Amino acid sequence: MKKVTVIGAGTMGNGIAQVFAMNGHHVHLVDVVQEALSNAMATITKNLSRMVVKGKITEEVKTATLANIITFTDMAAAACEAEIVVEAATENIGLKTKIFRQIDEVAPAGTILATNTSSISITKIAAATSRPENIIGMHFMNPVPVMKLVEVIRGYSTSDEVTSEVMELSRQLGKVPVEVNDYPGFVANRILMPMINEAIYSLFESVAGVEEIDTVMKLGMAHPMGPLQLADFIGLDVCLAILQVLHEGFGNPKYAPCPLLVNLVAAGKMGVKSGEGFYLHRRDVNNLEVAPNFRR
Ligand code: CAA
Repeated sequence: MKKVTVIGAGTMGNGIAQVFAMNGHHVHLVDVVQEALSNAMATITKNLSRMVVKGKITEEVKTATLANIITFTDMAAAACEAEIVVEAATENIGLKTKIFRQIDEVAPAGTILATNTSSISITKIAAATSRPENIIGMHFMNPVPVMKLVEVIRGYSTSDEVTSEVMELSRQLGKVPVEVNDYPGFVANRILMPMINEAIYSLFESVAGVEEIDTVMKLGMAHPMGPLQLADFIGLDVCLAILQVLHEGFGNPKYAPCPLLVNLVAAGKMGVKSGEGFYLHRRDVNNLEVAPNFRR
């Protein structure tokens, strides 16, 4: 079992910590904000309790999983003995390179430094460290405990050994790893984000309404969520940031974010996390309600 440090206790970070801890690894979960750590532990406890109620795990497994996670606000203390670090901080290249520079200084020499980035270049992140051969992308999907895929991204200098180890570790977590090379959006978001952007364009150009667009993709293509609901779920700010990476990275106008997406983010409508995007997301309401601006 490995000593794993997970950096960032947001939605992705707490899901990653839960999956490692459920599989017996010793997890140090680190965030600069103590409240984020408390919220993460509350979410993990709630997820595990739901699994106990459904008979998927025993109370003993829940207790052991929680005991496998220790929280930290000090990155050096959290990472000084790590065998692998998985960074899941906000999707911002300046922040990520800063974190990797810091971890490079405190983590032992052989430690693998993985990033859960959804689109930022692994090669650029690796260039901020003294061990580019040990830097790799480990891109989990949301919700992490449910989704089977891990996109394993090789940077320009990532070694074969590190790639094999991360592929094997992902399998050991019960996931299906897929190896891809380091180009903008990798594979997952290079395909997903243009679809979401096109759905937003269809709304922007009044081809159809929010529910109609989502129904077409749910019932016509068997997607579990329509693209507009999925955009809300991912976060409209995250979708915009990924499209900007694709647009800049390829220099191709086909990736230009729809002006409606740009406007929504500028207005603070980020989807589930802000309570409104294409839909209203109220905690006490189960049925999805289209946001006021998009009612027909
Ligand atoms: N954490 C843990 N478990 C969760 C969960 C969460 N946040 N949300 C749902 N689940 C579990 C439920 O407990 C339930 O478990 P059981 O099967 O054991 O009962 C199961 O998932 C199904 O949940 P529900 O019955 O409540 O609802 P659902 O059938 O509508 O499924 C969903 C919910 C799994 C989220 C499904 O709607 C879905 O697959 N949506 C698409 C998700 C997707 O595309 N994710 C990728 C986003 S892109 C990304 O992450 C990468 C990026 O870089 C942007």
